[in-house]
Amino acid sequence: GVSWKLADHPKLPKGKVVAMIVLDGWGEAHDNQYNCISVAETPTMDSLKNGAPDRWRLVRAHGTAVGLPTEDDMGNSEVGHNALGAGRIFAQGAKLCDLALESGKIYDGEGFNYIKESFESGTLHLIGLLSDGGVHSRIDQVLLLVKGASERGAKRIRVHALTDGRDVLDGSSVAFVETLQNYLSELREQGIDAQIASGGGRMYVTMDRYENDWDVVKRGWDAQVLGEAPYKFKSALEAVKTLRAEPKANDQYLPPFVIVDESGKAVGPIVDGDAVVTFNFRADRMVMAAKAFEYEDFDKFDRVRVPKIRYAGMLQYDGELKLPNHYLVSPPEIDRTSGEYLTHNGVRTFACSETVKFGHVTFFWNGNRSGYFDSEMEEYVEVPSDSGITFNVQPKMKALEIAEKARDAILSGKFHQVRVNLPNSDMVGHTGDIAATVVACKAADEAVKMILDTIEQVGGIYVVTADHGNAEDMVKRNKKGEPALDKDGKIQILTSHTLEPVPIAIGGPGLLPGVRYRKDVPSGGLANVAATVMNLHGFVAPDDYETTLIEVVDN
Ligand code: 3PG
Ligand code: CO
Repeated sequence: GVSWKLADHPKLPKGKVVAMIVLDGWGEAHDNQYNCISVAETPTMDSLKNGAPDRWRLVRAHGTAVGLPTEDDMGNSEVGHNALGAGRIFAQGAKLCDLALESGKIYDGEGFNYIKESFESGTLHLIGLLSDGGVHSRIDQVLLLVKGASERGAKRIRVHALTDGRDVLDGSSVAFVETLQNYLSELREQGIDAQIASGGGRMYVTMDRYENDWDVVKRGWDAQVLGEAPYKFKSALEAVKTLRAEPKANDQYLPPFVIVDESGKAVGPIVDGDAVVTFNFRADRMVMAAKAFEYEDFDKFDRVRVPKIRYAGMLQYDGELKLPNHYLVSPPEIDRTSGEYLTHNGVRTFACSETVKFGHVTFFWNGNRSGYFDSEMEEYVEVPSDSGITFNVQPKMKALEIAEKARDAILSGKFHQVRVNLPNSDMVGHTGDIAATVVACKAADEAVKMILDTIEQVGGIYVVTADHGNAEDMVKRNKKGEPALDKDGKIQILTSHTLEPVPIAIGGPGLLPGVRYRKDVPSGGLANVAATVMNLHGFVAPDDYETTLIEVVDN
């Protein structure tokens, strides 16, 4: 068994209230007009940066520092919150799928063998996000999987492709669809009946998260399973090109479409005896669809027809719920997270965000685990997000409400750790609306102020950091770092995350004067934060945790 008892920190006291603030998508970059954080009025964050020099620093939030395959992989909220909460670096879904596909082990696993049973008489359907963003999925993995399945008996393959434009440039969907379509037509020449069967934009079709809007999942079900959608096309390439030509259309929000044959019949509804794989490795935006495919009892929308299928996820999306039951690659086993340790050591925790990021400060933070470790010790509060809008319309989102919940939790005296995620800079940054993102950053800064003021009032400690970059750079750049122009000479707005490091500031009246950042962890990353926070609660982190960022000097 695990020994949960943490050693006492030799110098730092227990019992202080620690506010742990995660600004989603708040990286550090040079000042310029595309840096919405520097353009915005952010007096609170500025004062932290320009305050005590040994209590503000940057940490790495992308690439191998958070368990991603390469240094070209931008950070994301899943891996960022995993690292923050778990204090160690785990090879993440993207990497685990690469390894399983490279070695071919994916085809020996239980999940593949389960779906393979359907190859003889049924169709293999692959559903997921089609891009090279590497956040939820990767197109090269999809192509490998299609190839591998076709070599192992899949004779009829249908891909249901969700267009991205959020982890990659808007407009890139056309090239990804073309790549896939070309590949499938090569397979057809080899006698495999393979084609794209349906599609739609990720934010409008299938990929909702945390039960914000089930209609999104329903639109996907209708197109993928029932073969019904408002738009019908002969090819997916024609579909994305045509739908993108509509005014204001973008990849993230393309309406659902199905591909039909000469007679107007959908080419790939999902029927009894078929196999279905959702090829996203990341959980949050596949859990809802997985429930629709897997659960017998399901009341979130009328599924109309529930085919008897063999369904597997690329990964298992929720270990607690065993959802789905079958999966091609085992997810990272993120165990002994800081949350679980702290609960065992008497630290009472409050966690809060609004719906769109609620699972980030709870599920991801706790190593992809749902629910409480100990309901006596923890309280998680979800502020309902606005749904059915893009967040550039409401850039303040629920920042104020989240800050008020945090304030009340701090003042209640019931908690030692009050943890929040402020989504604004990320969610609005993803819309690519620069003016709105500036408003979003200001709103997040105001929320931080409210929480820091409360910490001041109760003599507590604060930690302010972020999970990855986004709003600090809103333009695609060339190798020289200059804004890259498209063929019409226009700058290309960057809706995605970045490779930038993120700030981490510590302070508050409860922090001993001698606490400062160590100088010997220059390449520290998000995984170093958990040990740091454990120290602030008066404990020493377990030996295998990434080292703490702080030291205590006598002065
Ligand atoms: C999303 O799912 O919204 C984006 O792909 C990634 O954003 P997140 O990692 O900040 O949630
Ligand atoms: Co994001």
